[in-house]
Amino acid sequence: MNQDLKKEKSAREAFNLIEPELMKDSVIGIGTGTTTNFFIKELNKAKIQIKGVVCSSNASENLIDNSYDKFSLNEVHGIDFYIDGADEFNDRKELIKGGGGALTREKILAYSSNKFICIVDESKHVNLLGQFPLPVEVIELARSAVSRELMKMGGKPIYRHGFVTDNGNQIVDIHNLPIEVPYDLEAKINNIPGVVENGIFSCRKADTIICTTDNDISVIQ
Ligand code: 5RP
Repeated sequence: MNQDLKKEKSAREAFNLIEPELMKDSVIGIGTGTTTNFFIKELNKAKIQIKGVVCSSNASENLIDNSYDKFSLNEVHGIDFYIDGADEFNDRKELIKGGGGALTREKILAYSSNKFICIVDESKHVNLLGQFPLPVEVIELARSAVSRELMKMGGKPIYRHGFVTDNGNQIVDIHNLPIEVPYDLEAKINNIPGVVENGIFSCRKADTIICTTDNDISVIQ
């Protein structure tokens, strides 16, 4: 089975999982990336009666069918279900996200959600987070200063040239960073002045991971 098919199966499983619980006033948070795009496809097909969606990126918002109302987070009471992919996940359901550069809004939506369902294929599983370079969103003028601090932590920062986030900021991807205690490192990186957000999702990790392998789909609670 190719990777896209696995992503599609995880996305469909997520849709089937939440559909019976959706009500007229439900709000779904929509992540960003190719796996989430498969979820959007399911949602668009189903045209269900819900209050609407809150999207983590302009790219995702553009894909949502016009039959759904699109809200900003400020306009809703919160998010009932947040559905998003990940670049890495571990057995504790901690994640690295931000490969698509939408990590800040993704983390805000995940924090505001009652249930965060992460949809992945088996290639995203790791024992120790950090094989995927850790994305850090930075204010432009602080990019070099933040990078120097991240080097002191043992990482190799690489500026994502030409990329501007939906918030108007830049991304530095940190290679070879040892992420032994994700919870601590998430907070430590966010304490560097100029950092907007980093891609470790440990303080608010996933509640459920839906992972498709060659043989089956597991729903990890
Ligand atoms: C975007 C993300 C994505 O969820 C992550 O990069 C996974 O993407 P894909 O589903 O395309 O593999 O964090 O910022």
